[in-house]
Amino acid sequence: RSAGALADKRVVITAGPTREPIDPVRYITNHSSGKMGYALAAAARDAGAQVTLISGPVSIAPPPGVEVRNVITAEDMLRVASVAVDEGCDLFIASAAVADYRPQICAEDKIKKSSEEMLLSLVRNPDTLATIAGRVDAPFTVGFAAETTDVAKYATDKMQRKKLRMIVANDVSVPGLGFNSENNAVTVFWPDGQVSIGPDSKQQIADELIDLISTHI
Ligand code: PMT
Repeated sequence: RSAGALADKRVVITAGPTREPIDPVRYITNHSSGKMGYALAAAARDAGAQVTLISGPVSIAPPPGVEVRNVITAEDMLRVASVAVDEGCDLFIASAAVADYRPQICAEDKIKKSSEEMLLSLVRNPDTLATIAGRVDAPFTVGFAAETTDVAKYATDKMQRKKLRMIVANDVSVPGLGFNSENNAVTVFWPDGQVSIGPDSKQQIADELIDLISTHI
C-alpha cells in the first residue's frame, strides 16, 4: 500500500455494535465484534491519516496511534460522530452495526417476570451515516451494507438514498465471513464502478479498501 496515500487527511470511522437498553440489566444488540472497523482504522493510520475511531462496546484492543471515542447507543453514536466531523473530517467511514431500533422506553427498574407474553415497543434510531453524508459540508462518505439477500441491489439503493460516494456491500449470510469472524469478503460500489475484494483477512480487506478509497477521494 502506498504509505502517505491519506497523509494530512482526517478520517473518522465508526465500528462495532450499539447497545440499546431495555432496563438496567438488559439490552438489544448484534454480533458485530468491531474487527472490520478496527482494521480500517489501522489501515488508514498506516496510510498517514489522523484517525478517530468511534466505537461501540467491543472486546478487542484499539489500534495504537488511533484516537478512540467510546459510545454505547445509536444516539450516542450520532452525537459523538457529529462532534468529530465538526472538528474536521475529510473521510467518514461507517462500518458500525448500529441498531436501527431502540426500546421506546428504558425501564427504570429491572422488569419483573409476570405474564407469559411480553411486548417490547421499539422506535427508529437516528442514522449516523445518512446524517453525516447529508451535511452541506459532508466529508467523502463511505458506508457499509450488511445484507443477506439481493446484496448488490440493496447496497446500491443505500448508496443513492444516503448520498454516499461509495458503499461496501457485505454478504453476511456466508458462514465464516462478516459478523464476528476473522475473515470477510466484500463488493465495493461507487457511481460508475464496482470491485470485489476477498475472501481474505479483515486486515487485508481493510488495507485494500483504504487503497481504493484513496484513489477516489
Ligand atoms: O464488526 P465485525 O464483527 O468485524 O463485522 C463487520 C460488519 C459485518 C459489522 C461490517 O462489515 C458491516 O457490514 N457493517 C455495517 C453493518 C450494518 O449495520 O449495515 P446496515 O446495512 O444495517 O447499515 C447501513 C450503513 O448505515 C452502515 O454503514 C451503518 O454503519 C450505517 N448506519 C445504520 C443505521 C444507523 N442508525 N446509523 C448508521 O450509521
